[in-house]
Amino acid sequence: MVWEAVADLDQLEEGDMMVVRMNGEPICVVRLYEDEAVAVHNTCTHQQQPLNEGYLQEDDTLICPAHNSCFDLRTGEPKGVPAVAPIPVYACKIEDDAIWVDVDQQLNDAEIPHKPYH
Ligand code: FES
Repeated sequence: MVWEAVADLDQLEEGDMMVVRMNGEPICVVRLYEDEAVAVHNTCTHQQQPLNEGYLQEDDTLICPAHNSCFDLRTGEPKGVPAVAPIPVYACKIEDDAIWVDVDQQLNDAEIPHKPYH
């Protein structure tokens, strides 16, 4: 279990996303609210497009820009086709004015999406 600070809070406004590479994987960090951030694998499970280029919805889902798959950012579950497999969700917290991620703590049992990674 290794928490890593991936951003200062003032680097990521509410509603913003960023990609960080951890353990060789692209991780999409999303600051949902002032006091909540989430971290998911950045690769769509449909055709492996980068999710950070997508659109955050008011219900805390993320729409893939390629073919509009929609993922719940807390559970990783797809909420409609074409994607049918969930994306990995990782431990993420806000503490000491920073956003922290621990990719060794995956919170769901989603498989790591296969390459290409972006
Ligand atoms: S690659 Fe994301 S919906 Fe097709």
